[in-house]
Amino acid sequence: MARTKTLYRCNECGATEPKWTGRCMGCEAWGTLIEEVDGPVGPGAVPILAPTTAPIQISDVDPTEFTPRATGVAELDRVLGGGLVPGSVTLLGGEPGIGKSTVLLQAAAEVAATGRKVLYLSGEESAQQIRLRAERLGALHPMLWLATEIALPQVLGAIASVEPDLVIVDSVQTLLNPDLASTPGSVAQVRDCSHRLVQEAKRRGCAMVLVGHVTKDGSLAGPRVLEHMVDTVLSFEGDRHHALRLLRVVKHRFGSTQELGLFEMTEKGLAGVPDASGMFLADRRLGIPGSVVVPTIEGARPLLVELQILTTPSTLPSPRRSAQGIDNGRLALLLAVLQQRVGVQTGQVDVYALAVGGVKIVEPGADLALGLAVVSSLTGKPVPADVVACGEVGLGGELRQVAHTPRRLAEAARLGFKRAVLPFSAPAPPPGIVAIRVGTLIDAVERLQMLPN
Ligand code: TYD
Ligand code: MG
Repeated sequence: MARTKTLYRCNECGATEPKWTGRCMGCEAWGTLIEEVDGPVGPGAVPILAPTTAPIQISDVDPTEFTPRATGVAELDRVLGGGLVPGSVTLLGGEPGIGKSTVLLQAAAEVAATGRKVLYLSGEESAQQIRLRAERLGALHPMLWLATEIALPQVLGAIASVEPDLVIVDSVQTLLNPDLASTPGSVAQVRDCSHRLVQEAKRRGCAMVLVGHVTKDGSLAGPRVLEHMVDTVLSFEGDRHHALRLLRVVKHRFGSTQELGLFEMTEKGLAGVPDASGMFLADRRLGIPGSVVVPTIEGARPLLVELQILTTPSTLPSPRRSAQGIDNGRLALLLAVLQQRVGVQTGQVDVYALAVGGVKIVEPGADLALGLAVVSSLTGKPVPADVVACGEVGLGGELRQVAHTPRRLAEAARLGFKRAVLPFSAPAPPPGIVAIRVGTLIDAVERLQMLPN
């Protein structure tokens, strides 16, 4: 095959170089050069042809064309708003080892079981490895086809020979277009190969799922540059040391991005978790100082999470603040507000904060619960077991309501909570919950009688 000429273009200033260099000669930025295929530019370089599909009036577009088809994995279908749309491309991103291959193999088998053909393309594992895993997952099905190609022409060939309804590409980082000089996993390769695959999915009208590995900081060459190219972007998250996995929708051309899927990693693969709050609170011990339950919201799904704070006398010149599952910045802000507005001194103690269950809470709705947990830990007075707390704390110590309060509190009621500490402005709680309305963090501390005698 004839090699096309490649050049390297700076992502920042657009300057081009014939060879890759670490630093752009044009703007002197580091690591911004991206490989691209050279071609003629200017007037006439692109011919003007009749369109393949003629433009039509918007009202003439068939709205039923994009009907999702269920994958059979309930939590995945919930997140997708029903299932995968034929001809659409979904990117599933997540850290290595989080369970992307597992959930997709399960989905592949479910789809195959309905009589639709599925092609699972793996550049990461051998066919034997995938078969062994499929046996464990109960995912052996004659309509499920495997190929372990990585080179783009062969990948396209495999799709052409199977003619599947669903293609799974695991992962985009292993794909290789031999026309490009860069190695698999580079931005140029990932972008180019994915682009070709997206076109192929649209042309054939088959659904396609691309797997993309993402590192802890959410970067790594790959998934980010693909987000605009695909119809749907899903993110698979969780703590590898915990069983819980969260499936979020980052982008969705066919539906809401508010849904959240919850899975538990088990011996037999990923199992859906319909009652996550119940799971989180199952091992909670009552009457422990420093523990407060907060009704958080993930997308549109309420989740009750226990926050725990432990304070110990510090011998360090600058005491330790350690937070797991809780944003360090929010914790620091809360400690400052407690000190300045509530008169609670934390300068001499180490503070350990934990969101139980391996979830990450980033929303400000957990502020009030966090503040109460710190006070409770310092005074040794537990927050009553039937109380949840929900509200954002401002720098003045004032409280603000947060979105979806009724939905959060309905979940609290469902799990047997009776009272909720809420800002004055919050809407009325649902039946079964009595509001303890407060204006400031110090009000809340006083109403719960948590100051030392
Ligand atoms: P995997 O799907 O390979 O992750 P990814 O494709 O995102 O890199 O899953 C990796 C982990 O899941 C692996 O460490 C083992 C665990 N696992 C189970 O606990 N149970 C199972 O049934 C399977 C298949 C995997
Ligand atoms: Mg994998």
